[in-house]
Amino acid sequence: MPQHSHSARRSWWSRRMPGSSATLNTSLLLLAALASPSAAQTTTAFTDQETGIQFQRFFGAKSGFGFGIALPTAPSTSFIGQLTFPLARGAGWGGFSLTGDMEGPLLMAAWPDGAGGIVSSFRQAANEDDNPPEVSGGFAVRPIAAATSVNATFLSYTFLCEGCLDASLGLSAAETAGAAVEMGWALGSRAVGNQASTAAVLNFHNVGFGDFKANLAAARSAEFDTWAALAGDALAPGAGAQPFSGGGGGGGDGGFDSGDEDDGGNDSDDDD
Ligand SMILES: *[C@@H]1O[C@H](CO)[C@@H](O)[C@H](O)[C@H]1NC(C)=O
Ligand SMILES: *[C@@H]1O[C@H](CO)[C@@H](O)[C@H](O)[C@H]1NC(C)=O
Repeated sequence: MPQHSHSARRSWWSRRMPGSSATLNTSLLLLAALASPSAAQTTTAFTDQETGIQFQRFFGAKSGFGFGIALPTAPSTSFIGQLTFPLARGAGWGGFSLTGDMEGPLLMAAWPDGAGGIVSSFRQAANEDDNPPEVSGGFAVRPIAAATSVNATFLSYTFLCEGCLDASLGLSAAETAGAAVEMGWALGSRAVGNQASTAAVLNFHNVGFGDFKANLAAARSAEFDTWAALAGDALAPGAGAQPFSGGGGGGGDGGFDSGDEDDGGNDSDDDD
């Protein structure tokens, strides 16, 4: 049976369970994909209580992971995002991908800093096994404090993602006209390594991961600018961030298709 590894080298979107055979898992995932060809969940309307921001949101009923996205009526390069997810005694991390893939597109993850705050960083994965390194580029995150909080059991991170829409990053403004745009998510319940750093090591997404269909056409609002004005200063990337390597984005129909489309959280051994 697969054993969870605490190895720092196991990262989030990996389709391979730690300690198990990649070949076996690929076969199982293929079977799962054939059995449920279109199980990916579509986002629904969700209004944030603190700010009134109206998102299209993916929410995994089993994992408790949520990712919401809001856009202006004429999207250009920015969106508002919201990550919400449970923590296990103050530990864990959650993230999203601009496409349904882990490898290639712009990823972002957030986790508790261990001192009452939240750390986030942009990541880019060269493969599905290693901790995706921090990247920097023409994008930046500006937290919206009014809808950002963390305690021992829950994290909520709301932010303006500036410069985050671009074909080279995986999702262009033009693509936001779609009603079923593939995006990805991941959630881990174990403490990240070096949690106060933007370069923290993200462990395997043991709680769940997968893709979902974002109804971005419905995520547009004329109130976007009002909501965006709630955002604070842009956070600087860590000194060790590598330049984002463009061109790998595309349609998000590459290799990644999870075997747990409904929300993935059925790992029975995900806690302790
Ligand atoms: C943690 O925050 C969540 C979300 O705001 C809240 O529902 C929960 O009651 C909080 N837990 C504690 C122990 O304060
Ligand atoms: C999820 O796990 C529970 C408990 O092990 C099991 O009863 C249930 O059938 C599983 N659901 C799926 C969809 O595999």
